[in-house]
Parts: sequence; structure tokens; C-alpha cells
Amino acid sequence: MEIIGNPTRQEIKKAAQTLIDGHLVAFPTETVYGLGADATNETAVRRVYSVKGRPKNHPLIVHIASINHINFWVSEVSDYAIELARNFWPGPLTLIVKRSHRAKDFITGGQDNVALRVPSNNLAQSLLKEFENLGGNGIAAPSANRFRAVSPTTCEAVKEELGSYLFEQDLILNGGSSSVGVESTIVDCTNGAARILRPGAVTEEMIKIITDVQPQNFDLPKIRTSGAFESHYSPKAKVVLNGTPKKGDGFLALSSFATPTGAIRLASPTNLQAYAKELYEALRIGDRKGLKRIVALTPDGEGLALAIRDRLMKSAGSSD
Ligand code: TXA
Ligand code: MG
Repeated sequence: MEIIGNPTRQEIKKAAQTLIDGHLVAFPTETVYGLGADATNETAVRRVYSVKGRPKNHPLIVHIASINHINFWVSEVSDYAIELARNFWPGPLTLIVKRSHRAKDFITGGQDNVALRVPSNNLAQSLLKEFENLGGNGIAAPSANRFRAVSPTTCEAVKEELGSYLFEQDLILNGGSSSVGVESTIVDCTNGAARILRPGAVTEEMIKIITDVQPQNFDLPKIRTSGAFESHYSPKAKVVLNGTPKKGDGFLALSSFATPTGAIRLASPTNLQAYAKELYEALRIGDRKGLKRIVALTPDGEGLALAIRDRLMKSAGSSD
């Protein structure tokens, strides 16, 4: 596996060709790093599952360069889904829509819908454009971590997670740290009204300005998502929410909360955006330090606070 830092246009072309040739390319997006494969190449997509150690019926998000490329992947799409795409793409939003025959079972886990996203990260955009110039139609990319582990928001974290599972011709593109830091908002657009399956930086309040949103129930997802598992996004350390840290425990909270005596501060985000951006790296720092426990104070409120609480609750292995 080769790591390319701040890739030039030529190197991005090479990465696109690497995907066309059926190898894997990990790349940055504004949310987290993805492990990419040509979404029409079954062998390449199967390798994504084995590199991640992910169950085979767990569907993948197809990344495209712009809204102009949705027709390849969808059979029918509601007006409100188009409105959401127009308003929030490129950006941290994934739409679930009815699939066309080109979105095969090996992408959708056998479901008759497909997840699509247009990322805004410059490097991701350039890679998608070069890939499409070479005749590619979409890059399937789950977060570039082992199944149930913490999503990577830096190139170093991808190397830590997947370095020993990638092959010689696979690539990792280094584009610095992801600006949002938590995975995209997933919205199911296959029914009469939008339903949020995974909260993210495109918030319910933002979506409600565009279209109606069905009341959400994260406990009983009808479609398989990360939320269906109790323990996810988990570091090796035990994550404890809103407790009092003991001596030697890691501590993660907004900067307005002082570090309790004896605790090891892992991040001091000054606002919710910074909390989301630093969250996964803070959990990784705890693991690199070999900490047994990390106490995290969950932020209050709606919007991005909801996404942060969702990931922290899953890290802590609790689904409530
Ligand atoms: O921000 C993101 O969404 C990142 C970056 C790389 O784009 N990707 C990401 O992918 O988080 P992944 O595979 O780690 O999480 C996507 C979630 C999975 O839990 C999967 O089950 C769900 O989306 N999903 C994918 N396709 C789906 C579909 N057709 N129906 C329902 N859920 C789907
Ligand atoms: Mg993931």
C-alpha cells in the first residue's frame, strides 16, 4: 500500500486509474475518510468488506461527483429528495433512494434502494471527477475503519486501522484532517416524507426548511444502518458517559468544563463544530495512550449535538 500526501493532479489521476483497475483507494471526505472501490466492480467491492471485516449484507454508500450522476444509480426519485440534493450537495448528506438495476446486490446488501452522496472535500471531488473522466460511475466507500471501530478522520488513523489489510497496489490519499469529523446525515427518501436514519452535520432543523421530516426512531431502524448495532464507533478503552473520571481516566468535554483532578484531558473543543471534528481523534489518542476508560461529557441540545451524542452513546455501547 502506498500513501500519497497532498496529491498532485497527476497523482489523483493515478488514484482514479487504480480504482478503475480494481484496487482500493482510501481518501478523505469532509466527514471521515472512506475506503473506496469502483461501485460497479464486484471483486473490488468484496475486498472492501474483507479489509473492513464487515458483514456482507451491510450496504455501502455510493459517492458521485455531482447530482448530474444520480440517474445511473436510481430508478425513481421523489421531488423532495431532489430538493435535498440541490440544497445540501456537495456536503455531508447521504440520500437513500430507489435503486436502478446498476446498483447491484453487492452494493445494496440485497435491498431495492441505494445510498448516494456527493462529498464536498476538494480531494474527494477531484478524485470523483478524474474517476468519471475515465468512465467510472461511482465510488463505493464506507468509513475506512475495521468493523465497529472508530471512523478515521486523518490519514494516520486510516493507516492504523487498515494498513495491515491493504495490498501493495492499494493507495491512501492524505488530505489532512476531515473538517466535519462525524459521518454524513443519512436520510431515507423512499417514502412519502424524509426520515433521518443517522444524524449528522446536516441537521433535522436544516432539512425541515426544505421538506417534512417523519418522526425518527433510532431504536427500531427499518433499514439496516450503523444505528442497528448496539456497539459501534468503539475505541479499545471503555467509554463512560457523563460520569466522574478516576485518576488516569481519559476526559473529553467542551472546554467550558474544567478537567477533574487526575484525569487526562483528550480534547477541549470550544464549540459543537470543534467537538464533532475532534471527537474520533480524541478517542484514538486515548487508545494510543493505552487508557482503560474514557469519560465523555455529552453536549446538550439539538442539531450537531444530537449527532455527537449519537456517536458517543454508540461508542459507549448503549443504544438509549
Ligand atoms: O460520511 C459518510 O457517510 C462516510 C464517508 C466516507 O462518506 N461513509 C460512511 O459509510 O459512513 P459507512 O458504510 O461506514 O456507513 C454508512 C451507513 C452504514 O451503516 C450502512 O448500513 C448505511 O449507511 N447504508 C448504506 N446504504 C444503505 C441503504 N441502501 N439503505 C440503508 N442504509 C444504508
Ligand atoms: Mg462506518
